Amino acid sequence: MHKVIFDTDPGVDDAMALLFLHHHPDIDLIGITTIFGNASIETTTRNALYLKRKWDIAAPVARGLGETLDPTRPHVGWPTSIHGDDGLGNIGVPETVDLSCDPRPAHRFIIDTVRAHPGEVTLVAVGRMTNLALALRDDPGIAALVKNVVIMGGAFDMRGNITPAAEANIHGDPEAADAVMTAPWPVVVVGLDVTEQTVMTRARLAAIVAAGGERAKLLSDISLFYVDFYEQHVEDGMVVHDSCACVYVVAPHLFTLRSGAIRVVCGGIADGQTIQKADDHQFPPSAWDDLPSQNVCTGIDAEAVLDLISQTLASQPVA
Ligand code: BDR
Ligand code: CA
Repeated sequence: MHKVIFDTDPGVDDAMALLFLHHHPDIDLIGITTIFGNASIETTTRNALYLKRKWDIAAPVARGLGETLDPTRPHVGWPTSIHGDDGLGNIGVPETVDLSCDPRPAHRFIIDTVRAHPGEVTLVAVGRMTNLALALRDDPGIAALVKNVVIMGGAFDMRGNITPAAEANIHGDPEAADAVMTAPWPVVVVGLDVTEQTVMTRARLAAIVAAGGERAKLLSDISLFYVDFYEQHVEDGMVVHDSCACVYVVAPHLFTLRSGAIRVVCGGIADGQTIQKADDHQFPPSAWDDLPSQNVCTGIDAEAVLDLISQTLASQPVA
């Protein structure tokens, strides 16, 4: 059983990933921490509470940060054309949800939970890396106690999606992402190189709804706005970025990895670009030296990943 803290900015594809984690029998979802990104921190936190209520998720929700690690970074607007004004595909999420957050801020929740379960917790982070970076800054000792960090973010051997150089989660807080990638904990990065190959068609989504009942129906209602957006980019369906990171936790054999130190460009025209120095390449002294080797996903069995997502979403969770 994998104990998972899900750090997320719900977010349409985040919602799908959350339902996957909730339903998968090998996952013990022990916390949801929120971060700004697809919408403001108020909205992403409200959305996490809304999904917790609608899907009967036991895990507590801890509210995270609403600004970048470096507070002087200029604010970039919310991606409402992708995730809707409410962050969940304009389904009409109520303004408030009758549930409370954990009293601790997200980074403190992460620190306390990792320390309570040394060597057992996997952090799955599918938004900006700000909460993780702050947890590391406040308590660097947690790096040695985390089992694994799985990130959705970055673009290594390809263009970005928010600039030609950068993927959105990393571009949203490059200093935080660089701190997370260079820390002495094991990181696996599931970036656009593999997520953009993983497209859930409308037909697949409809089949999940037919088999999965009310929870799947809500997920589908949330997703249709995002499917319409993605029609500009893919023939049919939606790219399931965040679910790919969750699948990695339970089915790593469906991915190909490359090992090497990772740095994130902070500033300039390539702000937020992720660059790996593969272990088998030699260079003169550089900013990648003496840093931990992390793993980047360079290949994916997309059909098998989509099958696993479909089966899991359509199933009922273990009580
Ligand atoms: C990432 O950005 C967000 O819009 C998605 O939820 C995903 O985590 C893809 O670049
Ligand atoms: Ca996300």
